Amino acid sequence: MAENTLRHLAIIMDGNGRWAKERGLRRTKGHEAGIETVRKVTEFCAEDPEIETLTLYAFSTENWKRPKMEVDYLMHLLEKYIRVEQPRYMEYDIRFETIGDMSPFSSKLLRTMEETKALTRGNSRLTQILALNYGGRDEIVRAVRHCLEAGEIPDEAGIGRHLDTPYIDVDLMIRTSGEQRLSNFLLWQLSYTELAFTDTYWPDFDVVELRSIVDDFKRRQRNYGGI
Ligand code: IPE
Ligand code: IPE
Ligand code: MG
Repeated sequence: MAENTLRHLAIIMDGNGRWAKERGLRRTKGHEAGIETVRKVTEFCAEDPEIETLTLYAFSTENWKRPKMEVDYLMHLLEKYIRVEQPRYMEYDIRFETIGDMSPFSSKLLRTMEETKALTRGNSRLTQILALNYGGRDEIVRAVRHCLEAGEIPDEAGIGRHLDTPYIDVDLMIRTSGEQRLSNFLLWQLSYTELAFTDTYWPDFDVVELRSIVDDFKRRQRNYGGI
């Protein structure tokens, strides 16, 4: 049997807060430690000849419910990560993209994101998509609205065209930290995605475990409703 191809990998990076708490640290330290995992996983994906897209859930439409101090810290960390990462995006030939509703973000964060998107536009080895202020329901609602505004029929193809990512199916979705739920991530794109859950907290997740999850994915039987 032929192995499955992994073109699009999506990850719910979860468990930063518990990782920090178990070490007697502030939750923000967990987010900081998680950045290193983002780097390692992104490099792994860039070096893998099959993987074209890596979508990382970084901030959900529901994460605004967290204490202001944590939200502010996450915004600061995001801006810094994207800015500091620019040379690495160029070195690894990675294109930077985002999905989600960007409207509430600060002008500083928006500027850094736009600058990084423009800088990396021509890169082609991997597209790293950060899901920011992202909610699957919000994305579908916005897509239907845009579809109607454009005078198009909101059928599968029509809605698909107006999603934040022009309809890229996800082959494999991984969630770390032991939670087994989607938390409003890519509801449309995950319809036939293979799912993998690990108890490892995001800051402890590494490429050895990622490799083994990917190898397991390759051996799975995907039917898409057929036999
Ligand atoms: C995931 O880690 C990162 C974000 C949601 C930004 P959490 O912050 O949810 O960590 P836990 O789940 O509380 O351990
Ligand atoms: C999902 O994690 C969002 C991100 C990883 C960005 P949460 O930690 O916010 O999800 P719930 O609240 O446990 O479902
Ligand atoms: Mg969590």
